[in-house]
Amino acid sequence: MRISEHPILKFERGKSITFYFDGKPVQAREGETIAAALHAAGIFTLSRSLEHQRPRGFFCAIGKCASCMMEVDGIPNVKTCLVLAKEGMSVRSQTGWGRLSDTDQKRPLPRRTIPELETDVAVVGAGPAGLSAALYASRFGAGVMVFEENSRIGGQLIKQTHMFFGSKEHYAKVRGIDIGAKLAGQLGEKVEVYTDTPVVGYYKHNQLAVIKDHRLFRVKAKKIIIATGASENMLAFPNNDLPGVYGAGAVQTLMNVYGVLPGKRMLMVGAGNIGVIVAYQLLQAGVDVAAVVEALPTIGAYQVHASKLRRCGVPILTRHTIERALGKTQVEGAVIVKLDDQWKPVPGTSRTLDVDTICLSVGLKPTSEIFVQAGCRMANISELGGEIPVRNKHLETTVEGLYVAGDASGIEEASSAMLEGRLAGLDAAAKLMGFSREIQKEIDHVMESLKELRAGPFGEKIREGEKNLEKEILGS
Ligand SMILES: Cc1cc2nc3c(=O)[nH]c(=O)nc-3n(C[C@H](O)[C@H](O)[C@H](O)COP(=O)(O)OP(=O)(O)OC[C@H]3O[C@@H](n4cnc5c(N)ncnc54)[C@H](O)[C@@H]3O)c2cc1C
Ligand code: FES
Repeated sequence: MRISEHPILKFERGKSITFYFDGKPVQAREGETIAAALHAAGIFTLSRSLEHQRPRGFFCAIGKCASCMMEVDGIPNVKTCLVLAKEGMSVRSQTGWGRLSDTDQKRPLPRRTIPELETDVAVVGAGPAGLSAALYASRFGAGVMVFEENSRIGGQLIKQTHMFFGSKEHYAKVRGIDIGAKLAGQLGEKVEVYTDTPVVGYYKHNQLAVIKDHRLFRVKAKKIIIATGASENMLAFPNNDLPGVYGAGAVQTLMNVYGVLPGKRMLMVGAGNIGVIVAYQLLQAGVDVAAVVEALPTIGAYQVHASKLRRCGVPILTRHTIERALGKTQVEGAVIVKLDDQWKPVPGTSRTLDVDTICLSVGLKPTSEIFVQAGCRMANISELGGEIPVRNKHLETTVEGLYVAGDASGIEEASSAMLEGRLAGLDAAAKLMGFSREIQKEIDHVMESLKELRAGPFGEKIREGEKNLEKEILGS
């Protein structure tokens, strides 16, 4: 169902179009992804699992989990959460691996040379980190190409309707949705941004494989900054793969980007900032939130967000978790249970909630594939979200000329992502154009700002993670 009224957002929907799902017409709006349009039409099962043909809906909505893969115009394994619906398109649900038609399989591959693009700095990902990297590298004279797999730029910010905390320099009191636009508006003519353009591989001597309009391109860059963000963690419980179990970011994407309701009644799992903020945004969109469960004894979110939710009558149950999801083809309920201080379910405390949607907000992990492929030295630092590349203080990894910035370097927040992007962009530009006094002053300022941002109680986990990363580097 599409949202008709929202207290903050006005949905400017494109013109009506029709595409075909398993041969039946589906009405969509221009600018909607295939998966969002199918949701709006009440179609939640997009594919079936490889082994047991269990129904699969989508989970992440940002191209990172593969549960939305369908056959589109004869091409299998298309991530329908990223691809926009088009007039007359044929979309088919997919079981297992997916295959090309016999005719397509027999068709000889065209012999084409791979076109090449060259740039001073290639940035992968147009979230706050990537956009800041592009902005500052170009300000100091470098030519920059930004590659973004989504059709919109801004990364996670495109769906954050709440006002950000922090200082004025870091866009405090500005809504996330407006920050991305502000950053993009500052990019000058030395920056070229390619949307709908995933980076699918790294090759030695700083070369990237990039796909644009079904064509492969080789990008040769003097420096590369990877700012690919993070993906949502899954939680193990029976039926966690049913359509209707979403990551918190996916729910935000559906509601706040496409104006489509994920369900009517929701259970939120996780009372950190993201869980509590998204639970409130669900209420704003008209979804009933049955409860927020949190396994820890305390709420992780800022008090201001938690209090807002409580004032709306939503219970936040600490020391509780989800035991299982109910339903055969999609979520029809959830069983929650109390935990004792050994994290064990307390017998006799299970109860069933009447919900049609379950939202998981149980942490993020950095997107690390490109670093692994490039042969960067990696470290597993739990306080920073898991596997991250080892880097120096200016964020250059152990592969010369390859930088990391933002959530890909460790899970934090948009303010630090912007500062890290800026730092990587400045260092890359300085190494290409030469270290001037002005650029050094900028670098010093950014490093000081990062330190300030991570001072205080909320930066404790990050400081611990940084310390453990240093130990790991020194220990080798
Ligand atoms: C619900 C919620 C609330 C939040 N609230 C706040 C807040 O109040 N304050 C705050 O400071 N932070 C907040 N954050 C955190 C903040 O949004 C993230 O820390 C920040 O967006 C990270 O920026 P990034 O640029 O590193 O990654 P992202 O914003 O995730 O951007 C990464 C980009 O890379 C692209 N990409 C990934 N892989 C590829 C590839 N192979 N090829 C091309 N492109 C690729 C992605 O499509 C994406 O656009 C919140 C997050 C969430 C989910
Ligand atoms: S990849 Fe599309 S939902 Fe995860």
